Amino acid sequence: MKEQIPAIQSDALARIAAAEDSRVLDEARVAVLGKKGSLTVLAAGMKDVPKEDKAEVGQLLNAARVAITEALEAKQQALQEVADRKALEGIDLTLPARPLPVGGLHPLTLIRDEAIGILRRMGFALADGPEIEDEFHCFDALNTPADHPARNEKDTFYCDSGKLLRTHTSSVQIRTMGKAQPPVRIIAPGSAYRRDEIDATHLSVFNQLEGLYVAADVSLPDLKGTLEYFFHELFGPQTEVRFRPHFFPFTEPSFEIDVKLTVKGQQPRWIEVAGCGMVDPAVFDSINAGRKDESFHPDKVTGFAFGMGLDRLAMIRWGIKDIRLLIENDIRFLKQFA
Ligand code: PHE
Repeated sequence: MKEQIPAIQSDALARIAAAEDSRVLDEARVAVLGKKGSLTVLAAGMKDVPKEDKAEVGQLLNAARVAITEALEAKQQALQEVADRKALEGIDLTLPARPLPVGGLHPLTLIRDEAIGILRRMGFALADGPEIEDEFHCFDALNTPADHPARNEKDTFYCDSGKLLRTHTSSVQIRTMGKAQPPVRIIAPGSAYRRDEIDATHLSVFNQLEGLYVAADVSLPDLKGTLEYFFHELFGPQTEVRFRPHFFPFTEPSFEIDVKLTVKGQQPRWIEVAGCGMVDPAVFDSINAGRKDESFHPDKVTGFAFGMGLDRLAMIRWGIKDIRLLIENDIRFLKQFA
């Protein structure tokens, strides 16, 4: 048996050296080390080796197994290296990779973030409120009488529960003043819903940004200065802005704000972008009644509020002539903002 070991070993090493691919190499491994392999079969004869020879034969067997296993591993690695090199043949790794498509932000997100940035620099903090509102926060507390046309089922989406989809973000004014102490200086961006006929400037779901500033001695010039500054920051200092007297139940006096929209190949036109005004004392009364204190007593505080249409701001910023482009997800349109 002692003599057979070197023969098996040298035969195995020769097979391994000659193997040209990993399949042949594996056959060689099975032929020697497999269950019925030559070395395995030989090792089974250990039980018949005389006691005094056992240690020596065992060592020889072991050394043979180690040598063969190492040779197998080395050969496997060498074959793999050759295969890897072959796979890369003809490929120029110094060429630049194919570009992956890069995503971009939606124009509405861009304009919203920019608007928030400007107002935050002016000291406004972000506030929030639910989109499924009740009549109290959307209308009653905002001094809107029961027979006001905005409350009509033709204009507002009502749920069976009596709740409604907020028609404006002004409800956040009520929610904020219900909890805070003056001074209050907040902005609230978010969705608003109206049963409007959809056309080039109207959607039934649109985006507003509400603003509210309440403190001692807030005046109309503060309102005008704040909003003029805002629009000049957003659209550039040469932007034309106008305030038109208007009516809102929750502000007095009230205005609508128009900004001039210039679209290539079209006559410039005024486009309404916001409503605003001085907070009506009736709103403060309703806040105080709700919170059962006089924190917002109309003799102690005054305030201004505004609500602008973010979709309209996007239209002006980029000369978009149809608001529907903002919700159609046409990649050819959206790509221009990436
Ligand atoms: N909520 C009004 C609207 O949606 C806008 C507005 C907000 C007007 C705040 C005045 C003050 O048309």
